[in-house]
Amino acid sequence: MKGLILSGGAGTRLRPITHTSAKQLVPIANKPILFYGIEAMVEAGVVEIGIIISPETGEDIKAAVGDGSIFGATVTWILQDQPLGLAHCVKIAHDFLGDDEFVMYLGDNMLEQNLVGFISEFTSRRQAPELTSTNGGPTAQILLAEVDDPRSFGVAEVTDTGAVVRLVEKPDNPPSNLALVGAYLFDKTIHEAVASIKPSPRGELEITDAIQWLIDEGHEVAHDVLVGWWIDTGKKDPLLECNRLVLDTINPQLDGDIDEASDVEGRVRIEAGAKVVNSTVRGPAVIGANTVVTNSYIGPYSSVAADCEITDSELDHSVILSESAIRNVSRLTDSLIGSHVEVDRTKHVPAGLRLMLGDHSRLELEG
Ligand code: TTP
Repeated sequence: MKGLILSGGAGTRLRPITHTSAKQLVPIANKPILFYGIEAMVEAGVVEIGIIISPETGEDIKAAVGDGSIFGATVTWILQDQPLGLAHCVKIAHDFLGDDEFVMYLGDNMLEQNLVGFISEFTSRRQAPELTSTNGGPTAQILLAEVDDPRSFGVAEVTDTGAVVRLVEKPDNPPSNLALVGAYLFDKTIHEAVASIKPSPRGELEITDAIQWLIDEGHEVAHDVLVGWWIDTGKKDPLLECNRLVLDTINPQLDGDIDEASDVEGRVRIEAGAKVVNSTVRGPAVIGANTVVTNSYIGPYSSVAADCEITDSELDHSVILSESAIRNVSRLTDSLIGSHVEVDRTKHVPAGLRLMLGDHSRLELEG
């Protein structure tokens, strides 16, 4: 089985962070979101992985992933000139995929569950189709999550025996509370499907249309219901929530320097070369390599990336990307700060806010 990770796209919902960098490289607990997907594939024994990239952010993604050997995988890069849809990604990956079965994964999604059970279910359903079906076993398998309000998702209608009979995109009257999650399994029949469908009104080749084509042509589409949490990290609040969930699972490790006047409590990872001086770090939290924290409080659910400076400040429940500085700020909360950002409070008169914010920035001032 091969793997296909979708890591192109426009990333409009995470602007301005994604004006200049890929949303799949935004870190969760100081590790790019995309890496979690690659690791999940390798853990399930899928080591031949194709990654879809865009002209805008592809080079950064290539630089971060390398040839895949750090994950024990071999990576094939597939350039998508424009974000023409998830099914378009399958189309342009056909040469790489050949006739093999494959697992497709959205590079900005994070799942708590691994892919091992999802893939082995598909394999056993195909090897012993008589147990689950009458028509030779599934050609596709989708992952579904129970959600409170399915109206903003792709929604599946399933029978009592587990067969998917209909998929609807963002329905006003959802046929179930089962939303499509960003992991799919396909055999070669999907190539016929993507070649047969037409672009949707938004101009994209939709994977839901391709799967619906399989169903309409009489192919079985199986499903699994997700266990644990799942987050589409493409927006700020889900991203912070995901950071919180992952930080709750990290192994404490103190590789940096912590001086005697500092206090480090709970589940905390301080990476090599980091310095904590006269400060309190209350976990779960991670402090990146070579970051210096001085006279500050780093509260729960904070991820500070490498090469940052936090001085005379308090922060919690926030993600700070690399090479940024926070000085004299109390207190920063629920924030996502890009890389090379400086936030400072000065005593300059006249008093006032002095800002230099990029396009699409958002600033919430207190009080
Ligand atoms: P989406 O979140 O559906 O789309 P997007 O990246 O364009 O985001 P936004 O809505 O913020 O503008 O994409 C899901 C994943 O699939 C994401 O990792 C990007 C990737 N993708 C591609 O690689 N090619 C595509 O044509 C599309 C639509 C998405």
